[in-house]
Amino acid sequence: MIWLWGIGVFVVLFGLVAFRGAPYVPSQKKYVRQAFSELYPLSHKDTLVDVGSGDGIVLRVASKCGARAIGYEINPLLVLISRFISRHDKNVEVKLVDFWLTQLPDRTTVVYAFAATPYIKKMIHKMQCEANRLQRPLRYISYGNVLAGLEADASVGAYRLYTFYPLQSS
Ligand SMILES: C[S@@+](CC[C@H](N)C(=O)[O-])C[C@H]1O[C@@H](n2cnc3c(N)ncnc32)[C@H](O)[C@@H]1O
Repeated sequence: MIWLWGIGVFVVLFGLVAFRGAPYVPSQKKYVRQAFSELYPLSHKDTLVDVGSGDGIVLRVASKCGARAIGYEINPLLVLISRFISRHDKNVEVKLVDFWLTQLPDRTTVVYAFAATPYIKKMIHKMQCEANRLQRPLRYISYGNVLAGLEADASVGAYRLYTFYPLQSS
């Protein structure tokens, strides 16, 4: 009977996420490495936020490039797993939060997102609000999605790099 509860919890945790963003599908390490070298060379000067950080693979690759890496993840099971796998990595931090309800850390330089298409418009709005709030440009690495209406700075494979500039409030 306990296994039935286990399956129920698993289905609820992974299924309900679809109402808040992309379901869990991990990025591939070799492509993440390529993005952080050829598309946006990450360095110790960067703080990267992975919005929906899954098992933390992106965070660990970012950390290896010297960056501080912060994951926002809504699924508590994935938060526990990623914290455990990254437990020896001092550059990596994983927060149990809903990205839509949270601000980016003030030191954020670049955001990574493997988002679902229905949420792209909302993501563009969120990124613009954050650039306005922080009053400086924010870089955004999109995996698998084009941001409609915006021109990418560069692309590598399925990755595109965008910059959100702060807008003056009227
Ligand atoms: C496509 S996976 C990407 C995982 C990881 N970024 C990677 O590239 O390997 C999307 C992740 O976003 C999480 N997620 C979905 N909606 C979210 C939200 N509103 N706030 C935080 N995390 C969310 C899911 O639980 C899932 O782990």
